[in-house]
Amino acid sequence: MKQTIKTLLARKGGEPISMLTAYDYPTACIIDDAGVDTILVGDSLGNVILGYENTLAVTVEDMIHHGAAVCRGAKNAFVVVDMPFMSYQPSVRDAVMNAGRIMKGTGCQAVKMEGGAEYADRIKAITDAGIPVVAHIGLTPQSVNAMGGYKVQARTDAEKQRLLSNARAVQEAGAFAVTLECVPADIARQVTEELDILTIGIGAGNGCDGQVLVYQDMIGYTGGYVPKFVKKFGDVHDVMLEAFKQYRKEVAERTYPDEEHSF
Ligand code: KIV
Repeated sequence: MKQTIKTLLARKGGEPISMLTAYDYPTACIIDDAGVDTILVGDSLGNVILGYENTLAVTVEDMIHHGAAVCRGAKNAFVVVDMPFMSYQPSVRDAVMNAGRIMKGTGCQAVKMEGGAEYADRIKAITDAGIPVVAHIGLTPQSVNAMGGYKVQARTDAEKQRLLSNARAVQEAGAFAVTLECVPADIARQVTEELDILTIGIGAGNGCDGQVLVYQDMIGYTGGYVPKFVKKFGDVHDVMLEAFKQYRKEVAERTYPDEEHSF
């Protein structure tokens, strides 16, 4: 059954919602087959697929290209596509136009944008246009330069109060869900209990209404650094490395292709 905003909102306070990132058709098919509820076409695309140092260079065209491929593979999962850096920050008009381009160009069910109260007007305008919005507060990677790095947010009481008021602001503006990234578990739980909308945590403890991870991190695809909050559910990097090495060896030795694999 295709997940919708209604089926997801009905889970508030009930069985937690699963979300994984995907950036292409075959991965979306596997995630969908696994029964994962929702797929995020994250602008983490910049780091994990395109090899950039951060997400800032990702464009609306990149998001549409990858988002459309994911939507073709997601038969049941609800698909959310990220609005990249500078696609909504300049103005309300830019925000609505780019959210519309992303929805038309991909077939996704919602868009996600980083920021709290300061972008409440964008969230309201996009939802008024009939496009569901997932907000994103706490650690917001598009502001990496302003934040001075990727650090746990909302540690002090004052910062916790700011997180709470940003959460209230995005709910008030019309977001149906909010991503809480890299914040202490106690404040994530408090936000979840106070809000009527869904909270989707990443590095935010297990008190949220759902969880999201970058799929490469949780299956050991990268072979590089993974954040502390990521559990490794598989080790794809080593499986691929061994297969590629074996292929190279057999080609060099002329043992592949053998008779079985020739015409
Ligand atoms: O871009 C992304 O993958 C994200 C998740 C980290 C939530 O925004």
